[in-house]
Amino acid sequence: MKVLTVVGARPQFIKAAAVSRELRRRHDEVLIHTGQHYDEEMSDVFFEELGIPEPDDNLGVGSSNHSDQTAEMLAGLGEKIETVEPDAVLVYGDTNSTLAAAIAASKADTRLAHVEAGLRSYNREMPEEINRVLTDHAADLLFAPSQRAVANLREESVPGAVHDTGDVMYDAVLWARERAEANSEVLSEFGVEPDEYVLATVHRAANTDDPDRLAAILDALAGDPREVVLPAHPRTINRMERYEMYDEARERLTLVEPVGYLDFVRLQDCADVVATDSGGVQKEAFFLDTPCVTMREETEWRETVEAGWNELVGANETAIRRALDDADPPGDKPRPYGDGDAAARITDLLDDA
Ligand code: UD1
Ligand code: UDP
Repeated sequence: MKVLTVVGARPQFIKAAAVSRELRRRHDEVLIHTGQHYDEEMSDVFFEELGIPEPDDNLGVGSSNHSDQTAEMLAGLGEKIETVEPDAVLVYGDTNSTLAAAIAASKADTRLAHVEAGLRSYNREMPEEINRVLTDHAADLLFAPSQRAVANLREESVPGAVHDTGDVMYDAVLWARERAEANSEVLSEFGVEPDEYVLATVHRAANTDDPDRLAAILDALAGDPREVVLPAHPRTINRMERYEMYDEARERLTLVEPVGYLDFVRLQDCADVVATDSGGVQKEAFFLDTPCVTMREETEWRETVEAGWNELVGANETAIRRALDDADPPGDKPRPYGDGDAAARITDLLDDA
């Protein structure tokens, strides 16, 4: 069968790489990059190091307001689906690229398969929450990463077929962990020792676009006695500059450009604790046995919190500092996200579709 995969943002390259390795053994895959992310370190680096074939096309939409960006993707993807005539369109996660592809597939009456279906933060202020809900309700095949995600979908009575496949990001981490250990020089590059530093990321609109929240986060991180490595998303750098926080952050933190996947996995694996507002990073920390402090009020990855490996602290300076200080997860850990064979399961299910 012919599968048209749509990606556009950093986490989607990583997830699609894990699935493509399996998918291409049995199916034809046409890979379309929307161009939502375009900087070398937000896009090209992943194609190079994860061995993903070059995209068959890049729509080059770039950054603009969400409506324009989504509309431009929708128009481009509509045309692609018409030309390629795939048996299914495969989408990942909850970005604007995901939503545009979901609508385009539905308008072309082509089967839509959604990887990472059923996640809910129940915070409708997040653009991602609306993207996920709409995509799940348009999808014919829903690949849920956990039993909770399956239950969320059942509660909403989605019309498509729901399957618990486990989480493709677990596959990705299992593929990367030893490769990263063998090949990454990132610790010495940044001058940090295993278990002696905090690894941080911030990019969620609710944190970067609110100067009070961003200041509280940066102050909390800078107040930690350990070295803090912050590979900053371009959006975050942009806002730090706009709010005149950049110079001070550079002085107080190891503020660096985003790094490639193997380097980032290595940094997560060896960190004493991770502080983040990323969805993917919360889970990767969990898979890599590194405690996580999440600078949000809620999470769609609640299993990590219930297991005691992730604490939600919002953007409160005191709460972040205390959580970074106290992070002490229990020794045993449940495995709510499957066994790391999600890509194979997804490929099988696409076969049967
Ligand atoms: C997007 C997703 C978010 C995901 C994140 C992964 C949506 C609504 N949001 O957020 O769910 O967690 O990707 O990283 O789809 N920029 C650059 N270079 C790039 C990419 C972005 O400079 O290569 C800057 C631009 O100023 C842009 C801003 O970052 O306006 C935001 O980019 P955008 O793709 O709109 O959203 P993200 O914050 O990256
Ligand atoms: N990541 C990376 N380099 C970085 C920061 C993150 O490779 O400098 C990876 C990380 O390992 C994870 C993914 O990017 O797999 C998470 O993406 P992001 O935080 O941008 O988006 P989210 O998961 O929140 O949608």
